[in-house]
Amino acid sequence: MHSFRRFQLKPAPRPGKALTSPSSILLYCRRGFEKECAAEILVQTQAAGISGHVRAKENSAHVVFVAHEPEILANRAARLRFDALIFARQRIFASGPLADLPVDDRITPLLDTAAGLQRRYSTLWLETADTNEAKELAAFTRKFERPFAAAAAGLLGGGPQAPRLHVFFLTSTAAYLGYTLPDDSAPWPCGIPRLKLPRSAPSRSTLKLEEAFLVFVDRPETMLRPGMSAVDLGAAPGGWTWQLVRRHIRTTAVDNGNLDPALLDSGLVTHLRTDGFRFRPSRPVDWLVCDMVEQPSRIARLVADWAADGAFRYAVFNLKLPMNRRYEEVERCRGLIEERLAAQGVSHRLRFRQLYHDREEVTGFLELVS
Ligand SMILES: C[S@@+](CC[C@H](N)C(=O)[O-])C[C@H]1O[C@@H](n2cnc3c(N)ncnc32)[C@H](O)[C@@H]1O
Repeated sequence: MHSFRRFQLKPAPRPGKALTSPSSILLYCRRGFEKECAAEILVQTQAAGISGHVRAKENSAHVVFVAHEPEILANRAARLRFDALIFARQRIFASGPLADLPVDDRITPLLDTAAGLQRRYSTLWLETADTNEAKELAAFTRKFERPFAAAAAGLLGGGPQAPRLHVFFLTSTAAYLGYTLPDDSAPWPCGIPRLKLPRSAPSRSTLKLEEAFLVFVDRPETMLRPGMSAVDLGAAPGGWTWQLVRRHIRTTAVDNGNLDPALLDSGLVTHLRTDGFRFRPSRPVDWLVCDMVEQPSRIARLVADWAADGAFRYAVFNLKLPMNRRYEEVERCRGLIEERLAAQGVSHRLRFRQLYHDREEVTGFLELVS
């Protein structure tokens, strides 16, 4: 059962003080992608019949959708899947902003608001935007966390499936307060998975594929098994191949460039210096991964071609975005793939996400469903 049913946004009639509906949706995104994040939340809320407007300040790394009727947002929130968003790192049902928090007692108004939204929370995350300016608030949030958590103890301890409490500080005296539902949100503070670059990995890009696996692979024990096969298009110097080899997956690495020799020593890698747009494996593989720097629609067509032939089960591919109309470009690529697979009658699951380790790019995931 989905947690929206268990923790209804709409206050259940219960004894005691009635809960209030959150008025806004707060989204964290990569700095510079506020416009894209705003556009997609407007599309998603409109499709769900929730009217509202967005506040999206350039380079603020967050966007706020303000519902014109919070009750409608509450009633229809279950239609808004976090998974369907591309540019949002986290999505919070929020109240606020609470401005002019008294410096000698920020806790009372924050706690009052938290108690008004949900009865109990599983955990507390104090957060700021992913900008250099906001990072200056980190010292403040670190100091504030302990006294606030102590004061909020009565609201916490709701069990792992209970909503998480988020306080998003704009300044040390202004904040949004809200919650996420654990099975319909990102599982990391600030929506950022803090991954360590493995010492033996040949490139930083390795973290993109590691994050993609964390975000998209919901059954790692069946989807990433030792002995599986993969093709890595645009593999050099080998950061993505490294992630596959680490999981004992036999990999054909396609690139004119050199691969880290340690990968070749693993015995699991075949390096082909050929064009990734021409190569096709002689039989279907479990995984296609593709990080070639090319026009996004060209990559989308390539992935669609492989998928139409059933040449893989799962694919992770990176789309390098143009300077303008970036959201539209991702949707165009989605359309290309969807159209092709619909024409072939191929059942599938397709998702896109701008990962934390992505820059001017997004990552796609395509699973063919038999
Ligand atoms: C961003 S790098 C890949 C980095 C790699 N994923 C890693 O983790 O180390 C892009 C690679 O795509 C390769 N590439 C670009 N066009 C290609 C093509 N048509 N066929 C094969 N490789 C291509 C480039 O040679 C380059 O090594």
